Amino acid sequence: MTTPLIEVEDIGKTYGSVIALSDVSTVVNAGEVTCVLGDNGAGKSTLIKILAGVHQHDAGTFKVEGEEIRFSSPREALDHGIATVYQDLAVVPLMSVWRNFFLGSEPTTTFGFIDRKKGREVTRKALSDMGIDLRDVEQPVGTLSGGERQCVAIARAVHFGAKVLILDEPTAALGVKQAGVVLKYVAQARDRGLGVVLITHNPHHAYPVGNRFLLLKRGRALGCYEKDEINLEELTRQMAGGAELEALAHELRAVEA
Ligand SMILES: Nc1ncnc2c1ncn2[C@@H]1O[C@H](COP(=O)(O)OP(=O)(O)O)[C@@H](O)[C@H]1O
Ligand SMILES: [Mg+2]
Repeated sequence: MTTPLIEVEDIGKTYGSVIALSDVSTVVNAGEVTCVLGDNGAGKSTLIKILAGVHQHDAGTFKVEGEEIRFSSPREALDHGIATVYQDLAVVPLMSVWRNFFLGSEPTTTFGFIDRKKGREVTRKALSDMGIDLRDVEQPVGTLSGGERQCVAIARAVHFGAKVLILDEPTAALGVKQAGVVLKYVAQARDRGLGVVLITHNPHHAYPVGNRFLLLKRGRALGCYEKDEINLEELTRQMAGGAELEALAHELRAVEA
């Protein structure tokens, strides 16, 4: 048994009097995707903000590669190999794709100037290694589609050696086809050995790429299932509110009868 990249146990977080997260446990392993599912307000963002060093938990334990940890900044999480891609993406829309790819860590010439040629080449290569073919890496990143931006961000994390890649609802604003493309790169990052945390409220996006499914509702875990413990129908049913929905259907039948 190898040590999980990330392990949270009975983790909790309150904002003032709001219990955003309570008693949540899961793991993230290398070469696997842990999906975090739940409706708005379920606590998904709160959980990943703890993992990403934006917030700190106030209950439970958080371990990275077996060691208990409490990050004081996103920089510290990144230094531990935990990279996060937010839904609104930290990209500068008017800046070129390749400059966005480096964002402050551009390659330099021996004289200390930014090596534009190398920067473009490295970006093109990193993207094409992931199967992304962008003709022009000099184009402003704002001209890319939402799906393409997500793909660039994923390639960036892989290129800079992230161990864990956290994606906050990467497919939420996308059409079916673009969502499929993004999920393909999620699978590629996984197959390259990264541990991926995929946040979504769509079980149809989670199921094909996921190894483990953590279902959250109002800050609590409804369950955390390995893939062989749950099928897509059951996952969808649980997401839809499961028992609550059944009760409603029962009432409807009673009204119709
Ligand atoms: N910074 C904050 N201050 C106060 N309450 C917050 C804050 N962030 C989130 N919450 C509350 O915590 C709960 C979980 O929110 P969140 O983690 O954003 O859920 P999700 O990402 O699943 O929609 C919600 O009730 C939300 O209103
Ligand atoms: Mg959220």
